[in-house]
Amino acid sequence: MSTEGGRLWGGRFEGSSAEAFDALNASLPVDRRLWQEDVRGSRAHARMLGATGIISADDAAAIDAGLQQVVDELAAGTFRFVAGDEDIHTAVERRLTEITGDAGRRLHTGRSRNDQVITDTLLWLRTRAEDQSAALADLTRALIARAREHVDTLVPGYTHLQRAQPVRLAHHLLAYAWMLDRDHRRLAFAIESASESPLGSGALAGSGFAIDRDMTAAELGFRGITQNSMDAVGSRDALLDYLAFAAQLGVHLSRLGAEFVWWSSEEVGFVVLEDAYASGSSMLPQKRNPDAAELARAKASRLSADLSGLLGVLSGLPLAYNKDLQDDKHYVFDAADTLDLLLPAMTGMVQTTTFRAEVMNAAADEGFLAATDLADHLVREGWPFRRAHEAVGALVRACSERGTGLVGATPEDLAAAGLGDVAIPDLGARASVEAKDVPGGTARERVLAQADVIEQRVADW
Ligand code: ARG
Repeated sequence: MSTEGGRLWGGRFEGSSAEAFDALNASLPVDRRLWQEDVRGSRAHARMLGATGIISADDAAAIDAGLQQVVDELAAGTFRFVAGDEDIHTAVERRLTEITGDAGRRLHTGRSRNDQVITDTLLWLRTRAEDQSAALADLTRALIARAREHVDTLVPGYTHLQRAQPVRLAHHLLAYAWMLDRDHRRLAFAIESASESPLGSGALAGSGFAIDRDMTAAELGFRGITQNSMDAVGSRDALLDYLAFAAQLGVHLSRLGAEFVWWSSEEVGFVVLEDAYASGSSMLPQKRNPDAAELARAKASRLSADLSGLLGVLSGLPLAYNKDLQDDKHYVFDAADTLDLLLPAMTGMVQTTTFRAEVMNAAADEGFLAATDLADHLVREGWPFRRAHEAVGALVRACSERGTGLVGATPEDLAAAGLGDVAIPDLGARASVEAKDVPGGTARERVLAQADVIEQRVADW
């Protein structure tokens, strides 16, 4: 049995708690990182208690000075956690009371850990989400910069991982920038969800004191206050919104990672990863492995597990606070930490990778990537599309039987496909991409136009 008797809620208890229970119940190892937010929230609450006359001005001043000392100790690493510190909230209040005596014992007037913990977590979420918004912008700008640099590099575009039609490398890279733009919208939504202050909701029913919720909300930088105390302490929707953002961003980064893994393979050889983002093999001396890209590919699973983990915790929970909610932080901290590792590494990888323009351009000209362009040409000559499709298919068969691409088609091949009389247009990749001159298409001007639009979007984030 634990001998510790200083639990902040111990009045009603005769017996002490079991060590095994204390170990399970304690959230300090996870939530101690909320110390800045916890002290911030407590200072705002204490000032409000003083301003409204719920506690005396002297007590409010003593609490404020005491909390300053607590935060200094925490920042300096001299704060000593003790065995009974169940979570960061009780640890801060315990230390404050050691420093200030009865003034500290008045801090929790009109407040519960239930509104305190969600207030702290939302404050934390807002700061982290704003930092990640900047990191997301860095990655998006890196993609745009590489796209502009390679606006004239052509690459095979794929469906089913089979070469389909040539595209500009810029078009391919910008596709990822657009995914990140949508991720940013989801992140902004999560920030918005975290913008109403739950402080003052008490344990679940509100407070019996004439507290000023608007005052604490304003001091803590919230846009307003929550309207239902039970919803405020029982919901974790802002965290779910953040995790939904993180999970979807994880999928996008995973796809980007996968792309770089196979582009860097010897079989494809479109890119060479910089040494700084590759690693060697302990046994195989020749290896340069695309580890950063592979880890990005894998982390999507972890991020989606974080989302599904919190969805699971919340499902079926009756209102309002339940201890289950203490587990929320595990998921959001893990997702935020994972993204903090991933985003800068992906940005660096995108910035430093060598795109082998000559290999990509040559690949875009090979084979049958212009087959659809030839069929389109026949349609413009008056052929029904289905007949054009069939004739070009026959030409592809004839050429591939001889082991050549479309540009190597001989008059015999053309005649065999029923195309003997047709004036064959330029079937190079460059003509093909320029023909895709529609909004959203891969023609040069269209790609530059979308680069301008996405660049402006990111500037406005
Ligand atoms: N450590 C707890 C949490 O993270 C604080 C809230 C405790 N509230 C309670 N009613 N036991 O959720």
